[in-house]
Amino acid sequence: MGDKLQGGVTSGDVWADFWSADHPIYVNARHAAVHYDRIAADLAGLLKDGSKPTVVDWGCGDAYGAPVLAKSCGGLLLFDAVGAVQRRIAARFAGAAGIRVLDDQAWRLLHDGSVDVIIMNSVAQYLSQGEFEAVLDDFRARLRKDGVIYLADIIPPDAGMLPDVVSLLATGARHGFFLAACSGLARTWFSRYRQIRNQAGFSTYSEKAIDALARKHGLSALRLPANVGFNQQRMTFRLRPA
Ligand SMILES: C[S@@+](CC[C@H](N)C(=O)[O-])C[C@H]1O[C@@H](n2cnc3c(N)ncnc32)[C@H](O)[C@@H]1O
Repeated sequence: MGDKLQGGVTSGDVWADFWSADHPIYVNARHAAVHYDRIAADLAGLLKDGSKPTVVDWGCGDAYGAPVLAKSCGGLLLFDAVGAVQRRIAARFAGAAGIRVLDDQAWRLLHDGSVDVIIMNSVAQYLSQGEFEAVLDDFRARLRKDGVIYLADIIPPDAGMLPDVVSLLATGARHGFFLAACSGLARTWFSRYRQIRNQAGFSTYSEKAIDALARKHGLSALRLPANVGFNQQRMTFRLRPA
């Protein structure tokens, strides 16, 4: 996908705008809770060596699972670039033990080499490739020499929409929101999401492409056997400074 759209805005700008307004991605509160519980459990599983690292969750969204994830961290720093999300999580986690919400300035001022683990789950698809590469450089700078980055929920170019639909319906059936999942799918189909996906694009990466991008930015990438979250047609990678 190209970086610049009409009027000089980037595809990332268009997606950031989508995420700052009300959107139908989580079909109801139960879906959001089930989604964030699963993400927190999977991410905590990746941190289970007991080292209690300093972790940044970049593009954390509403981060309902943060209190669970924070138990596996020495400190959990939450950052989301979208202002409306940032303000919501700042209010939600004010004073929460082990959790700090970063605003744009706090993220920019985070010291180089000060973070053990950076997580970016289900965000790369909303960034142009140029934006994604700039983010990788930011991550690389803030990471300790022996730190790790988890790039999760990376969508491969050949991923169809059908497995996404099946994954949502199966999760809905298992967790008691099947009917809401059906109507949520219908709402998404008629929402700006599809329109924006066609207009601004949706960044996808093969395993080889992530490997090449990691190398280009001084990192090495390893695909993990399972993706974070419910959707197993997507991929999770562990990146380390090369
Ligand atoms: C699908 S949500 C993922 C949230 C969370 N990481 C999770 O796994 O549930 C995508 C997140 O990316 C953020 N986002 C979307 N477009 C962005 C952009 N262009 N730049 C930075 N963040 C963006 C949104 O604010 C949103 O929180």
